[in-house]
Amino acid sequence: MKLYIGIDLGTSAVKLLLVNKAGQILNTVTEEYPLEFPEPGWSQQNPEDWRRAVLEGIPKLLRGFDGSKVAGIGCGGQMHGLVVLDANDQVIRPAILWNDGRTAKQVDYLNNVIGKERLSALTANIAFAGFTAPKILWMKENEPENFARLAKIMLPKDYINYILTGVHSCDYSDASGMLLLDVKHKRWSSEMLDICGVSETQMPGLYESYEVVGTVLPEIAKVLGIPESVKVVAGAGDNAAAAVGTGTVGEGGCNISLGTSGTIFISSDKFGVDPNNALHAFAHADGGWHLMGCMLSAASCNKWLCDEILKTQDYAAEQAPITVDKLGNNHVFFLPYLMGERSPINDTNARGTFIGMTMDTTRADLIQAVLEGVAFAIRDSFEVAKSLGISIPSTKICGGGSKSPLWRTIFANVLGIPLKMVKTEQGPGYGGAMLAMVGCGQYGSVQAASDALVEVASTIEPDEALTALYEARYQQFREIYPACKTLFSKIQ
Ligand code: XUL
Repeated sequence: MKLYIGIDLGTSAVKLLLVNKAGQILNTVTEEYPLEFPEPGWSQQNPEDWRRAVLEGIPKLLRGFDGSKVAGIGCGGQMHGLVVLDANDQVIRPAILWNDGRTAKQVDYLNNVIGKERLSALTANIAFAGFTAPKILWMKENEPENFARLAKIMLPKDYINYILTGVHSCDYSDASGMLLLDVKHKRWSSEMLDICGVSETQMPGLYESYEVVGTVLPEIAKVLGIPESVKVVAGAGDNAAAAVGTGTVGEGGCNISLGTSGTIFISSDKFGVDPNNALHAFAHADGGWHLMGCMLSAASCNKWLCDEILKTQDYAAEQAPITVDKLGNNHVFFLPYLMGERSPINDTNARGTFIGMTMDTTRADLIQAVLEGVAFAIRDSFEVAKSLGISIPSTKICGGGSKSPLWRTIFANVLGIPLKMVKTEQGPGYGGAMLAMVGCGQYGSVQAASDALVEVASTIEPDEALTALYEARYQQFREIYPACKTLFSKIQ
């Protein structure tokens, strides 16, 4: 039986999946790599670490399996990261990641000098600190020697595809987050390239996510123990890939991803823009489009509180005292802005904040406040979508945070809609493998792959009384950020 490899190139690790054509997961391997914060608010990674993790991980993934049966590889990768190569395809500097906040000045220039209206007309989006275009401007201004050597601009998963195939490619979903793509017409925006001082020859070729960009280079095939005929598809940004993996394709689907970042992803057959650009308007990996709200710290808020402050990794034990009667009754609130925030407030100065503590506040109250604060912040983007007339009757949920039944219950009641978990919850890697199946002709479309392979395993229904309690709490939560906003910019 044919085998497929799905790659989830994440922020803390790469997760590799071996999947058969029936969609069953045969093996998984996770290889971690470091994340550098060289200055407050900066976030970088070395593409060489991704390369090593993938090339060492795949042989481990295939141990005990017949590598000659591998037919295709598909990657879902962390979005927006600026990877820069010189004329010899050597990496010029560490990649500047999606959650990096160094570009406040360049974002201000793009949004206020070029102007939000112009940007939105050209790309369907405005500038956010994590997007790729402001990072190019930052490099031009702060590292002119590096900028002068710049021959190719790539996104993280495109670098892996380049290592595998020797082809410089990018898919439309990931390219959308560069602020260099005319998302509606699916082509590079020559005006945006001009604004950033780069040319189309420095950009990778554009593909649909399920299109094959090439086959594996002979020397790489040997290292990995797979045939040279293995096809590599263009893949997708991790959110689009995760959406494919949860069957959030076509018109009207919704998926929430609770990983390092937190996203709400609304799929559509039609191109559409949020007139206020609070939600991103991007292409989807199924050939259509989506709107997305992205918070920069989601499950990472809980990880931070547990790992760094409480010095424990037993997250379940920390959540055990939070019984159902406690939900909706917490007087402590948490603003989850540990890396500043993207959607919908677009504020690099925003910071994590606990408020409302008293002498009887417990450790569990703080944990609960963090879980609730993340759900409230996703609700902010959910409200933006609703204000555009989009109906979201239910949502899927995926990512590390979704493994907590408590957190899922909180989300269902904060949003007031049913929350569905799929049977094979493997995030972007599973979507990547599904895209590879489509590229190899196993399925005729991403929709067909989703219909055949994705199954809902469980649904959490919201409880009327609890939803009402959370509604009142959410209205209080909404007042906290505006009250702190000016202070955040002063305490930098
Ligand atoms: C989406 C975003 C994040 C990263 C995480 O716009 O920045 O979700 O893709 O890897």
